[in-house]
Amino acid sequence: MTREHWGSRLGFILAAAGSAVGLGNVWKFPYLVGQNGGAAFVVTYLVLVLTIGATGMLAEMAIGRAAQKNPVGAFAALKGGFWPVTGYLGVICGFLILGFYSVIGGWTIAYTVKMLDGTLTAPGLDFAATFSSFVADPVEPLIYHAIFMALTVGVVLKGVSAGIERWNKILMPTLLVLLVVLIARAVTLDGAMAGVEFYLKPDFSKINADVVLAALSQAFFSLSIGMGAMITYGSYLTRDQNLPRSTVMVIGLDTGVAILAGLIVMPAVFAFGVAPGAGPGLTFITLPGVFQQMPGGTLFGAAFFLLLLFAALTSSVSLLEVPVAYLMDELKVSRRTAVWVLGGIAFLIGVPSSLSLGIWADFKLFGLPFLDLLDFITSKLIMPVGGLLMCLFAGWVVWPVMRREATNDGSVSFRLLPVWNWLLKVVAPAAIAWILIQGLIG
Ligand code: TRP
Repeated sequence: MTREHWGSRLGFILAAAGSAVGLGNVWKFPYLVGQNGGAAFVVTYLVLVLTIGATGMLAEMAIGRAAQKNPVGAFAALKGGFWPVTGYLGVICGFLILGFYSVIGGWTIAYTVKMLDGTLTAPGLDFAATFSSFVADPVEPLIYHAIFMALTVGVVLKGVSAGIERWNKILMPTLLVLLVVLIARAVTLDGAMAGVEFYLKPDFSKINADVVLAALSQAFFSLSIGMGAMITYGSYLTRDQNLPRSTVMVIGLDTGVAILAGLIVMPAVFAFGVAPGAGPGLTFITLPGVFQQMPGGTLFGAAFFLLLLFAALTSSVSLLEVPVAYLMDELKVSRRTAVWVLGGIAFLIGVPSSLSLGIWADFKLFGLPFLDLLDFITSKLIMPVGGLLMCLFAGWVVWPVMRREATNDGSVSFRLLPVWNWLLKVVAPAAIAWILIQGLIG
């Protein structure tokens, strides 16, 4: 079987950006900004993305393209020994994230439908109660979870260029258009400017260890690094792509979308006088309330949840592709079989995730409900450990291969090469080790 490849350079950029741009940007980033001091968090995040985030992203793309393999096969092909463990961690991680990501993906479908059918526009609605009774229902969220997973499976079944690339080329530009429309609405609301100021005028005294920690974990999650997703997408690249430039574009799109999503949420939240620090409920509880009071709110609300859906879908496709690539490369399974089996198992993992918000809330493992446990294991354990090992591997073990990939054998100039090497060897590992330790004791 010859390896599939992207059909065009732009196709790869959009697919990698589609992987990165997800719930992390539109749902998580704005509420983290609200909880962590506004613009000070935004600035901290930008600094970390441009240094450690870019370092990890470029290393993953380079490892994937050099090896032309899934994460496990890539570490085995480039070095072997203990290193494929890093790849296994990534494959398992993709799968576990998918097990709760698709549940939340299902909520975005549900909320798009509920915006349009009037459920969320009924006068006097208690949005918090509506949300908690929806997620706690033992049946309804599972139906939407199944629909979301079916969409993911449908795209991945078609393969790299006819499925993943094609859908990213449709969904990503649509998402950008929706973003612009929603920002235009949000910033022209009366009182929006207080939100813009909170969001963009930093008060540096608000930066502390917790803020840095939150920003660094968010950078990993949002850029989809530390678990082999960019290794997998990089493995479908041919030799001609300029990797440092691709890294800059993907990071630019991911960060741009996060910043713009905040520019929808923060002005709207301030204009209607609700608290910006509401946490994870900001998107599903606070915003529907804002849409209800806004002229044209039903349509803008539906557009917002559709945007969230598209962002989530292009990410879940990439989450599924990581273990699918592993089964196809290493166990010589057909794409069809791999996608159905893995999609099916991920759906099943989603069932206890969803029920853990309702009838199974009291059933805890290590003191956490199932969904929170999966989130903890993946973002606080596997992604930092995977990212740490990957940076050490790239910087110390296979640096000549990295140098060759980043410069296309010396034919493109990459002036930051020595800086990148130093970030890989020392700065990124030290910073990640710190998140890991803080995450465990915190
Ligand atoms: N980056 C995604 C988001 O912001 C989430 C994510 C983390 C992810 N790791 C991933 C997506 C790996 C695809 C592949 O929502």
